[in-house]
Amino acid sequence: MSVRDTWAPEFLRRLAHREDEMKWLYMELYNNQEAYDYFVGMLYRVYSERDEKLKLWDQYRHEQASGWYRSNDMLGMVMYVNCFAENLRGVMDHFDYLKQCGIKYLHLMPPLASPKGKSDGGYAVSDFKKIEPELGTMEDLRKLAAMCHKARIYVCLDFVMNHTSDEHEWAIKAKEGQKEYMDRYFFFDDWSVPNEFEKTVPQVFPTTAPGNFSWCPEVNKVVMTTFYPYQWDLNYGNCVVFNDMTENMLYLCNRGVDILRLDAVPYIWKELGTNCRNLPKVHTLVRIMRLASEIVCPGTLLLGEVVMEPSKVVPYFGTVEKPECHLLYNVTTMASMWHTVATKDVNLLKHQLASVFALPGEYTFLNYLRCHDDIGWGLDYDFLAGYGMEQVAHKKFLNDYLTGKYYGSYARGELYNDDPKLGDARLCGTTASLCGIEGALEKNDAEKLRDAIRFDRMLHAFLLTQSGIPVIYSGDEVGQLNDNSYHDDPLKREDSRYIHRGNFVWEKTAHLEDPKTVEGEIYQSIMKLAKIRKQYTVFNSKADVWLLEPYNDHILGIGRYYEGQKLLALFNFAEDEEIAWIYEDETYTDLWTMKPRSAHEVRVPGHDFVWLFREYEGGYSDETDLSGY
Ligand code: GLC
Repeated sequence: MSVRDTWAPEFLRRLAHREDEMKWLYMELYNNQEAYDYFVGMLYRVYSERDEKLKLWDQYRHEQASGWYRSNDMLGMVMYVNCFAENLRGVMDHFDYLKQCGIKYLHLMPPLASPKGKSDGGYAVSDFKKIEPELGTMEDLRKLAAMCHKARIYVCLDFVMNHTSDEHEWAIKAKEGQKEYMDRYFFFDDWSVPNEFEKTVPQVFPTTAPGNFSWCPEVNKVVMTTFYPYQWDLNYGNCVVFNDMTENMLYLCNRGVDILRLDAVPYIWKELGTNCRNLPKVHTLVRIMRLASEIVCPGTLLLGEVVMEPSKVVPYFGTVEKPECHLLYNVTTMASMWHTVATKDVNLLKHQLASVFALPGEYTFLNYLRCHDDIGWGLDYDFLAGYGMEQVAHKKFLNDYLTGKYYGSYARGELYNDDPKLGDARLCGTTASLCGIEGALEKNDAEKLRDAIRFDRMLHAFLLTQSGIPVIYSGDEVGQLNDNSYHDDPLKREDSRYIHRGNFVWEKTAHLEDPKTVEGEIYQSIMKLAKIRKQYTVFNSKADVWLLEPYNDHILGIGRYYEGQKLLALFNFAEDEEIAWIYEDETYTDLWTMKPRSAHEVRVPGHDFVWLFREYEGGYSDETDLSGY
């Protein structure tokens, strides 16, 4: 009798569907039967530890609500637990606010144990099975997840898989010289091999943490540290690392996590002579992780953090037959949008969206205006070269504009990792501050303030027009400004990303009903936009989407069609009123005013948008009766 004879039929059924491919991939990587048997045994162990309620939830997510993340009622929010409400209990106490905002997807920034001063905002994990004590306990996380599930809110957590903190138990044992643990990382006796790597591997943090290796005095060796020196890269060439990390990932799923954000996933496989990014074996590992989660907790989603150019991002969806990630960040659209804010010229954004719209409809993006990280200028410079724009000079223009140095700009961003050698600074700041709200308030300029608020609303309308999950960065819904206090904090001041990681200003929520306040106007606008999106299935991710041609370089046009509903969306990136030279004979309704409006030569006020809608009588839908067909 084999051990498998005792396993639950449900598990065996799921395994049987996937084992052929999973084993093939695993053996191709590690060629180690014993390790593979351990891996599958571990999957069963985690499956049998899974709470019955979560198993029911699996059924719901996977069967009844399958594809939930592509529906037009999806609205996400991402937040630091401590910034929002001090700790996990605080989030539970403020749960009504999340419900009031209509949030259906909640991403809590990494809350796992992470050493103070060496935490990189929670991205240096010292224990994958423990919550940072200041934030609460695993039991709190489980309770919060249960609360979310009851309200049909899905929970996203980071799975920081590329590295551990240098205070993780494995790193501590490695520092003691224990070979078994040193083998979980990349150690070198001297700098000769690291120097070879440095010839081909770019730097992630050229100013705040230059180089990809650090000296480890405890063992007199060099250790690989792609990010910060206290974040030690894990060696996924070692099957023990992969087995244990997959277990850590599934442990989070068993606490109620629905979406795993695979942090820095392109970096997890390293090979000398390469740039150590997006190597083919990364895809093998992600595909095995996908199969493992389908076996243990179906309905769990993988969200890949692939902050790379489009040609590198899309492969992380895998193929339609062998998918990898369910969701990917729409990073180039986000960066191209901020480029458009500065240039007021929509050509690059059109070019970018054309490539997104051409992808298979199954590929779902997570859309966002801002997140906890900087905005990197990973734009299509070959395309921009056609407009005479050169990379270094253009990045300088974008940064000058968005930091408010440029004449006439009210934006208030700050540079991040300014690399004078490459001229490659990135940018930080909240949406409201980048839109000019902070600058207008500072200068007491009422007209500019109105313009900036309209701009903020228009960018959110653009966010909500795209297919996929729109995720709001907590605080943006009330127009939160930059937090400059990080400059005085010795643990934060070197990292300008903290400028947009301020505490949520709860006082602002007292004015949400008052549209005469900045926060009230922004909050009500975003809520209204989200409500409209929810009401009309034309916003569903299954819709056909195309670029609408307004023959005006300041106006972006997007068309959508689904089940007899049609939407024409126009976004004016210029300060002054512009005309969209479109000529559609049908009559439309303006979804913002609910008044009839013609789609002939549409005038769009500066920094504003228009959503024109019409419904076709007898339009075909999934519910259409085709019995007489
Ligand atoms: C990801 C995170 C970023 C962090 C890095 C290292 O890119 O988004 O905040 O610094 O990973 O873990």
